Amino acid sequence: MTASTPRQPLLDVDHARVVFPQGGPHGEVVAVDDVSLTLDTGRTMGLVGASGCGKSSLARAIMHLIPLASGTIRIMGEDLSRLGRDARRRKRRHFQMVFQDPGGSLDARMRAIDLVSEPLQVHGLASGPDLRDRARAVLASVDIPADAVDRFPHQFSGGQRQRIAIARAVVTEPSLLVCDEPTSALDVSVQAQVLDVLRNIQQDRDLGMLFITHDMGVVRQMCDDVLVMDAGRVVEAGPVDTVLDAPAHPVTRSLLAASMGTHAMGVDG
Ligand SMILES: Nc1ncnc2c1ncn2[C@@H]1O[C@H](COP(=O)(O)OP(=O)(O)O)[C@@H](O)[C@H]1O
Ligand SMILES: [Mg+2]
Repeated sequence: MTASTPRQPLLDVDHARVVFPQGGPHGEVVAVDDVSLTLDTGRTMGLVGASGCGKSSLARAIMHLIPLASGTIRIMGEDLSRLGRDARRRKRRHFQMVFQDPGGSLDARMRAIDLVSEPLQVHGLASGPDLRDRARAVLASVDIPADAVDRFPHQFSGGQRQRIAIARAVVTEPSLLVCDEPTSALDVSVQAQVLDVLRNIQQDRDLGMLFITHDMGVVRQMCDDVLVMDAGRVVEAGPVDTVLDAPAHPVTRSLLAASMGTHAMGVDG
């Protein structure tokens, strides 16, 4: 990059709109409606909102798993929708996703070590003994013990499975990691460990992270900035301290009240 090149955000979403043609009872559903955001390297942005407000649709559009009806998404300055399928696939190692349900995202017939080696192999990033060494190292970094790497997904706990999914997502050394409610399907007792692993990875690797949750307690713990969605639109956005200490929108307030209720219940009983 030359000195005159303007600095590009890691992720630049500009007036994005996602429409499902056959969604609701009356036809099309506008899942994401005119959403814009930017995310820089090394920052974590929380994306919050009630169920059905469009969080996962936005995440999937950012991952180029579904198309935009209008608007643009640039990753490291590049609009990947303009690339062919093969060229886009080659870029894929730079942006990865962790899904809510690790069971669904991990092939039940593959051993942990192979699940984590596979992306390295697919992208031609390692081969031979180096392949398994690197997969082992990443599994160790998410606290999967060395003597467990030959086990199959069903032989791990839910929290361990999600940590294997995280290892699989970060093994290609992406710049952008999108996490869609990565702890929502887990027991409360193991959620904290998975959040710790994600936070450590984000800090160690200086990742840009988009973190979807409906838990404002998790936002405060994990995120620098937060974006609140309602019915496909952004209704409030800003630094976490500003938004959570002085929420301006009723949706933000009700999400805060709900997560305070949960945490209070956790303490009381
Ligand atoms: N594949 C799909 N086909 C049709 N409608 C969908 C599809 N996926 C999501 N929707 C609809 O889009 C809206 C947003 O859903 P989603 O992005 O999953 O919200 P969230 O992740 O915030 O719960 C909802 O009304 C949902 O029913
Ligand atoms: Mg969702």
